Amino acid sequence: GKHEGAEWRGRRGRAGSGASSGSGSGSGGRERLEGPGAAENDPLHLKRRVGLFSGVALIVGTMIGSGIFVSPSGLIVRTGSVGASLVIWVSCGVLSLLGALAYAELGTMNTSSGAEYAYFMDAFGSLPAFLFSWVSTLVLKPSQLAIICLSFAQYAVEAFSSECEPPTLVVKVVAVLAIAVILLINCYSVTLATSVQNVFTTAKLGAVLIIICGGAYKLAEGNTQHLRDPFVGTKATFGNIATGFYTGLWAYDGWNNLNYVTEEIKNPSVNLPRSIGIGIPLVTFCYLLINISYLAVMSAAEMVESEAVAVTFGNRILGVMAWLMPLSVTVSTFGSANGTLFAAGRLCFAASREGHLLDILSYVHVRRYTPAPGLIFHSLIAVAMVMSGTIDSLIDFFSFTAWIFYGGSMLALLVMRKTKPHTPRPYKVPIIIPLIVLVISIYLIVAPIIDEPKIEYLYAATFIVAGLLFYVPFVHYGYVPAVMDTITVFLQLLLEVAPTQSMFD
Ligand code: ARG
Repeated sequence: GKHEGAEWRGRRGRAGSGASSGSGSGSGGRERLEGPGAAENDPLHLKRRVGLFSGVALIVGTMIGSGIFVSPSGLIVRTGSVGASLVIWVSCGVLSLLGALAYAELGTMNTSSGAEYAYFMDAFGSLPAFLFSWVSTLVLKPSQLAIICLSFAQYAVEAFSSECEPPTLVVKVVAVLAIAVILLINCYSVTLATSVQNVFTTAKLGAVLIIICGGAYKLAEGNTQHLRDPFVGTKATFGNIATGFYTGLWAYDGWNNLNYVTEEIKNPSVNLPRSIGIGIPLVTFCYLLINISYLAVMSAAEMVESEAVAVTFGNRILGVMAWLMPLSVTVSTFGSANGTLFAAGRLCFAASREGHLLDILSYVHVRRYTPAPGLIFHSLIAVAMVMSGTIDSLIDFFSFTAWIFYGGSMLALLVMRKTKPHTPRPYKVPIIIPLIVLVISIYLIVAPIIDEPKIEYLYAATFIVAGLLFYVPFVHYGYVPAVMDTITVFLQLLLEVAPTQSMFD
């Protein structure tokens, strides 16, 4: 049994011969367990479908998620004043734009998908690339999913509990349910997941428009009192500013999203920089206007008090249509969570296919063609994070780790200017930009640790180091414990998944 299993499981070269001698082996489940695409010899390749419009939509649709509906209060708490929080909102937008312009050079120079993974491979080699895929699979992507689902739950529950604070346990349970539903959608079919994404992105833009128009109306009526003396109470300490940035930067996260799909962009050397140049300023502008709209309707103190700013906003301004606000926010966060799991499944799938993670994580469901094992794996970690953390602690945990890698990409750019000076760069960013972003990311990583060391930062650092311990035996020396075969075969039968054809090319 075990040997036969290992044969149709077929790691790399072995599977090719397994497939051609398939008719003789006579194992009943064989046909069914063959990988998708095994019948056609056409190697899987991605089509270039993303033009300028979808490029901008991909950036904007990922960036606008939960942050703008949840973070404004947190940012006021951390900065102490309306003015300082608005300055941080705009600075986060500028920082994201600068970072993304540097990513535009990286993405047009190395046009393979996978963003950081590909750039680290080019600039630093296999180990840093492995560490990135390790951390993003185990930490970054699951914490993104956990944060967005917690925000979803907060709004969904708040809608039923009027202005009083909803019980934490209920919020967590709803967040776990949301993860389960999103997991089912993504395991069920790719088409379903992408249609959910499109519908929900549209709804999200609707919510943004409602808030901005509402605020503009209130301001026109002369409700400017909360915007006077904006800087009174500012508390700008070394570490405070950095964690304030974490809160704001979460809302902007996703600015590098187009770099994950470079292989699918039409004319990437033009459309990648252009989508970045349109998308990120657009989001920055929306976020600034939304913050001002909130302040046209409530004071900074009221914003801090409200657990869900957008709901309070709706209650004050939309009258009988107040239900529209929590609904649009739940729709927006749900869509964002769906997109995040979708991308996460893809990254995990790619890295494990390269032999950097467990084989089973790169397998695909035999009839539904979805990377179910990777999706389930991410969701389980996200559930653990939801149960153990709060939105704010998770955001700090996430941003700390993410900025280590964003800073790493800046370093990769600078290194490659030296080591690969002659590689064509269709888009070349002024060298000062990655330098600035590198310095800021070092500040963002170091300042919160010095200012107020938190256990989350230690967890994150431990995770990265733990990756090293795995790298040496399992990736560098390619050691596979014998029991892994049994586990893989068991999971394959349980989940009905198989390796993809492209794996053997
Ligand atoms: N900026 C989004 C929000 O405010 C989160 C995006 C998560 N990041 C990602 N790459 N999917 O909710």
